[in-house]
Amino acid sequence: MERPSRSSVERSTPPLTGLPAGFRFGASTASYQIEGGVMADGRGPSVWDTFCAEPGRVRDGSSGAEACDHYHRWAEDVALMRGLGLDGYRFSIAWPRVLPAGSGEVNAAGLAFYDRLVDALLEAGVAPMATLFHWDLPQPLEDGGGWLSRATAERFAEYAAVVGEALGDRVARWVTVNEPNVVTMLGYATGVHAPGRTLMFDALPAAHHLLLGHGLAVQALRAAGAKAVGCANNHTPVVAGTDSQADRDAADLYDTLWNRLFAEPMLLGSYPAGFGDLMPGPVADDLATIAAPLDFYGVNYYNPTRVAAPGTDLTPIGQTPSGDLPFVLVELDGYDRTGFGWAVVPDGLRDMLLQLRERYGDRLPSVTITESGCAYDDPVEADGIHDDRRIAYLDGHLRAVEEAVSAGVDVDGYYTWSLLDNFEWAEGYTQRFGLVHVDYATQRRTPKDSYDWYARVIRARR
Ligand code: GAL
Repeated sequence: MERPSRSSVERSTPPLTGLPAGFRFGASTASYQIEGGVMADGRGPSVWDTFCAEPGRVRDGSSGAEACDHYHRWAEDVALMRGLGLDGYRFSIAWPRVLPAGSGEVNAAGLAFYDRLVDALLEAGVAPMATLFHWDLPQPLEDGGGWLSRATAERFAEYAAVVGEALGDRVARWVTVNEPNVVTMLGYATGVHAPGRTLMFDALPAAHHLLLGHGLAVQALRAAGAKAVGCANNHTPVVAGTDSQADRDAADLYDTLWNRLFAEPMLLGSYPAGFGDLMPGPVADDLATIAAPLDFYGVNYYNPTRVAAPGTDLTPIGQTPSGDLPFVLVELDGYDRTGFGWAVVPDGLRDMLLQLRERYGDRLPSVTITESGCAYDDPVEADGIHDDRRIAYLDGHLRAVEEAVSAGVDVDGYYTWSLLDNFEWAEGYTQRFGLVHVDYATQRRTPKDSYDWYARVIRARR
């Protein structure tokens, strides 16, 4: 697997001595973003199939119908992981492959795909971390109300039991719901993601049902003998646009909605003040379910968020739908940017980890960085793909984790987003996050310089 490459030869990286023993290096992906094979072996439709088919929803008009064709090329992809020497691989299970109608009859062929994948990972020495829901909700469940309906949380628990029983003996770690805040805000409030609803604050019931689904799935997985169960919550440090009271209030509200609304039910068993009253169902009973202890707390981190009050003179971030929302996301000045335009702020990861520790103290279990990465469109050159900016990004963020660890935060792993370039939701194939380049016309995989660099970092730790 090792090829000479400009970065791996020229760039000498001091070893990451500040990370604890047993720290896991991993990479993450998600089913709809890499698998393709959406019609294969009895898979049912998901909300993302439907969404992508609607004109104007995805920037380049594409879909995950083929994606990286991982459904057929998984063995080659596991070989790439073996070449990296990954400790762990985080993937997601497509609910509509296992239960094409969302509930009821199990599709044995769909389940068998994950069974083979898990065995191959173990064979390659890579610990499987399986996410139950990374956004590809079975369309029949959306037709019944999706996450606005309590029934979806109950169906989710049934699905968790099915996969927990099938794979629980071998999956090392489980993640329930990926980023319930993104599903609520982008899927149900602003409509940037599937299912494309624009309910603004009326989307709050979706938050509650995603959280309830998480809690019920934790129970179901434990009952099935799961080895370890956690979550993957997207967190961002929030900074106020200016020092004005209006901007600080807007930033506080955003912080509450984005960070605290999801972390606090899980970790403290309560909603931030005022929010419990807005939620449906027997909220107190549900919170007891949602707060079931976790083995690890997964954090997905990309960048900080700067927030101002409506009417601000600051520059709003390109595509943020503001509508009637009481805050505006604005540009964070003074930092390098990824190809996606996101500010590169490794200190934001350290600060986020310190903030979690400060806010939740002993209620915070061991933290795993379940996603962290960047998109750059580096060209394929005759002698490789020289993604030095990704190397710098990963190096900076791993050092930020070291700093958080030395300040007393228990962090047990770092899973980079992503193993492969893939289907980036509403951005289609325009954003490349992978350690491995994918030529979508030929499905050829080419490891980038960052792949060699990451392999060396992992080897150096051993
Ligand atoms: C996360 C998401 C991933 C990936 C990443 C990069 O929010 O979980 O699926 O798309 O962002 O944008």
